[in-house]
Amino acid sequence: MKQKSGCGSVTWNGKRNGSGAAPATLIPGDGVGPEVIGAAIKVIAACGVKIDWDEQVAGAAAVKRVGSPAPPALIASLKRTRIALKGPLETRVGEGYRSINVYLRKTFDLFANLRPTRSFPGVNARFSNVDLIVVRENTEDLYAGIEHQVTPGVVESVKVITARASTRIARFAFEFARRNGRRSVTAIHKANIMKLSDGLFLKCARRVAAEYKDIQYNERIVDAACMRLVTEPSEFDVLLLENLYGDIVSDLCAGLVGGLGMVPGANYGDRGAIFEAVHGTAPDIAGKGVANPIAAILSGALMVEYLGHHEAAERIRTAVAQVLKARRVRTPDLGGKARTDEVAEAIIRAMERAA
Ligand code: NAI
Repeated sequence: MKQKSGCGSVTWNGKRNGSGAAPATLIPGDGVGPEVIGAAIKVIAACGVKIDWDEQVAGAAAVKRVGSPAPPALIASLKRTRIALKGPLETRVGEGYRSINVYLRKTFDLFANLRPTRSFPGVNARFSNVDLIVVRENTEDLYAGIEHQVTPGVVESVKVITARASTRIARFAFEFARRNGRRSVTAIHKANIMKLSDGLFLKCARRVAAEYKDIQYNERIVDAACMRLVTEPSEFDVLLLENLYGDIVSDLCAGLVGGLGMVPGANYGDRGAIFEAVHGTAPDIAGKGVANPIAAILSGALMVEYLGHHEAAERIRTAVAQVLKARRVRTPDLGGKARTDEVAEAIIRAMERAA
């Protein structure tokens, strides 16, 4: 199957060092992060693209080591490199510091979250024909974190939607669709209830859609969209969503193609990008060496592509597809017995054979 999930609408024009290696920040992250990121950097090294990694801690690992979830050294590194491969970071439920993921996306204005979700032959999933691109607005909505207690027992959480951010993400989705040969963009919303906020998001999407006559534009209410996604995913192509719906719907989409271990992601801004899998720290399997590294490896492929190495990115994706199709080496989430490292090694061997 031809991979159409590149990041053709965004390319890097930053610095390389004397040896031609691109500087990039490496954030192993929490939980299974170091395991899957370790696998991803081995695969990136084997694809022949030189990266000058600057390893930094963030999240719970950073609190433990230096007493802050977003240490100044991390921010300085990201300001310098403007590009990162990142493992998941732990965020406590209902307490503790604010999400460092949200903080990084806002600080570096990484407004577009792209999550290519596709079926791979050899993976047992309900569908075999899924090829979706989730485009999620990354900087506002209920994730602006504006919450307060009105009176004991009553709290408010403010949903912020702006024309600027909505137009910018809609343009990203359409531009991506055009550059990558996609047929349609579907805006997903709840404007029947949130008439002002989601209404504004839709208005902006419609305005941008009018400039892209070559791409079909559709709208779906989020609940109905979820039902159609789990019954007829091939009806969709590029999905355009606000922050919260995008977060939820991308995990739902991961469920269509074999689970969270399969779906890569990228957070793009005008001046940099952070690449990370959709999944979290997977505390239930952390430290056991059995996490599926494919989502992290495919996130690495998106990064390699962003750096301008399209063929190398394609080599990684082809090798991943070959390993999955052979059904011999896969982690327990896909019904196998292999360990994280064994999957990475199988992918590297597949790349070597192809060379
Ligand atoms: P999760 O994605 O960590 O785990 C959900 C389920 O999927 C678990 O059963 C887990 O074992 C499985 N899973 C996830 N990744 C896998 C992989 N690579 N291979 C095999 N199985 C995998 O979601 P959860 O449990 O809701 O969140 C745990 C923590 O992760 C929380 O602190 C949350 O805030 C954080 N998180 C961080 C993200 C990030 O940094 N981008 C994204 C999502 C969650």
